[in-house]
Amino acid sequence: MSSANNDTAEATHASAAALPLGKTEHRAHPANHVWRLDDGRQTLVLTATAERLPQVVYWGAKLPKGEDLATMHTAHAIDITGGMLDENPDLSLCPEASRTFPGQPGLIVRKQDGTPLLPKFCFESAANGKDLSLKYRDEDNGLTLTFEFETDPETFIIRAKTIWNADAPVHLHWLAAPVMPAPQLSDEMIDFSGRWCREFETNRTAWSPGIRYRENRTGRTGHEHFPGLIVPCVGTSNTHGEAYAFHYGWSGGHRMVAEELPDGRRQIQWGHAARMETQAATEFSTAPLYMTYSDTGLNGCAVSFQRHVRDRVVTWPKPNTPRPVHYNCWEAVYFDHKLDVLNNIADRAAKLGAERFVLDDGWFGNRDDDTRALSDWEVDVRKYPDGLMPLIEHVHSLGMSFGIWFEPEMINPDSDIHRAHPDWALGAEDQTLGRQQKALNMALPEVRDFIYDRMAAILSVHPIDYIKWDHNRVLPMPDAAQTRGSYELIDRLRADFPDVEIESCASGGGRIDFGILKRTQRVWLSDSNDALERLHIQHNAALFLPLSITGSHVGPRRCHTSGRILDISFRAWVAAQRHMGFEMDPRELDDHEERVLTEVTSWWKYNRDWLEDADILRLDSPDPAVIAEQQMPQDGSRFVVFAGKAATSSQIAPRPLRLTGLDPKAMYTVVLANRATAPTLSRGTPALKDGPMTLSGAYLMHHGLTLPWSFPETMWVLEGQRV
Ligand code: DGJ
Repeated sequence: MSSANNDTAEATHASAAALPLGKTEHRAHPANHVWRLDDGRQTLVLTATAERLPQVVYWGAKLPKGEDLATMHTAHAIDITGGMLDENPDLSLCPEASRTFPGQPGLIVRKQDGTPLLPKFCFESAANGKDLSLKYRDEDNGLTLTFEFETDPETFIIRAKTIWNADAPVHLHWLAAPVMPAPQLSDEMIDFSGRWCREFETNRTAWSPGIRYRENRTGRTGHEHFPGLIVPCVGTSNTHGEAYAFHYGWSGGHRMVAEELPDGRRQIQWGHAARMETQAATEFSTAPLYMTYSDTGLNGCAVSFQRHVRDRVVTWPKPNTPRPVHYNCWEAVYFDHKLDVLNNIADRAAKLGAERFVLDDGWFGNRDDDTRALSDWEVDVRKYPDGLMPLIEHVHSLGMSFGIWFEPEMINPDSDIHRAHPDWALGAEDQTLGRQQKALNMALPEVRDFIYDRMAAILSVHPIDYIKWDHNRVLPMPDAAQTRGSYELIDRLRADFPDVEIESCASGGGRIDFGILKRTQRVWLSDSNDALERLHIQHNAALFLPLSITGSHVGPRRCHTSGRILDISFRAWVAAQRHMGFEMDPRELDDHEERVLTEVTSWWKYNRDWLEDADILRLDSPDPAVIAEQQMPQDGSRFVVFAGKAATSSQIAPRPLRLTGLDPKAMYTVVLANRATAPTLSRGTPALKDGPMTLSGAYLMHHGLTLPWSFPETMWVLEGQRV
């Protein structure tokens, strides 16, 4: 990074002689400050006119070292014609309403008496180091803005945030993390919506003048609005082209603004949902905004996020221990806990290859269904007369570790704690319940202490290495203090029980973001254990999430959330694409199903050492019925391709599937791991049905592999090894 201070502001007006009467020519102001950030893949250049807030004048492929940033500043200025102001307002890191900015401002604040403030900031200081911190001051209103940027030369993620300080308490309505420009050679943006059992739906929206505005006011990250955005340049696919991607790392609800200004410029703003701070304050910080630029298609962004989550965001209690195969009893027994049944299920799960047994909802209070007992975190002596230890000891005797379910932020009106402390619940007394429950007010220290004590009482007397941490209802209203309270509770528990891993669950994937992932190690991506749905959900989630944190379980033969019946092989391979587990009642499995599940689980365990750190590369499938991905370690020495057939193809024969990221000159031996499962309707002799083949990276990437014909709802698994 370099910086320069040229105090060379010059007159804006040049001679008007050659211009038609009444017109003036305007020249761009020279830059007073320039800053440059490089991480080896991308360059970000910020410049500022005079003492004004800086703007991003370049973000993209890395620039040569000698690029003159002051020249870039003037080159970046856009022209002016009739109907425009005499100078274009900067699209700065925090566009100010006071500078006639024609779009959404980056900051909206009010005095304590409600009067709106119109801040105007001036340069104060810059701290240069590996990273960049810029301070700006509005003396009249007593406000300070600080922008922080951090680069990462290994993951290529830029982490940026805005911090705002006020001399006297004021009300914050909206504060954007550093505002970024979006590319002009892009005709659409991709963002994410979803619902229970169908998380990570992608939406493609065409750019047009005005705003694409998404605001999540549910108080949790939500199924409906994953805080991510990808802006691909024209022609970009999974494997080729340029793209810019963003993720806002906050679990309490966010706002995204993607706006095309009347002059054609585009801005991206991210922050907490508006008006989430209920009190006037003197300091506020946005959550980190994670962003990256890629010239290797959407996969370049995806791999950056995957690596960054795994290697920078998540903190692992036992980083060198392989991810254990899970068994979760929810869909086997629900609330009907009987020790002999659970012991029997544990025996069978261990035999199939499970290494961690997770006791789900139903072990506490008088929790016989979901109408009662949330917050009564004491073992139910009717179901466990001798406590949990007999079950835990049995699980341990089978070589599995033990995990347990909690839903700490929630309370049922029908619970001892609600009867004792009705005022601990968040929101109005007559609020509409969600799953018959309310949220606890996590901003209250006594509430946090109470939950901490109850959870600590369970964790300190039982050998438990894992919590499934659920959050099944949205909040009655958004309130940033609630999220801060949740974070504080998790942080305290983690500090006192550092060996316990936590899974973030919220009716499946309702709380997935890098803020919660700083405190947890796994996400329950969806309550859908339907492999067909999962194939789709986890493929899209891979745009942000790596294998090591993404739970995926083999569900019951007839899926409980879709009613679909799927073959065991398909169910097992889909789970093997991520952090594998089982969630069916193993007593329903026939011999064939047990054999297939055991085999796929051993395949997963055999490969997990490299799979856990592998990149998930989404393939450009020539057949919309096929959802395919390639998992490959960073050294490119091997790979596995999962080609899932999600529907019936419209053409009769499979189209060749192109691989990606290989060395074109290297040779690779490829083998179809499950070729023995080709259906008899596959009557031809594609070479892959016979055994291994050795082909060049160039062939595999530019022509692709011709897979055998297959039924819908099946998966081809292709293993490759660099020769
Ligand atoms: C919702 C979760 O997503 C399920 O997996 C299960 O844990 C239930 N809650 C338990 O109530």
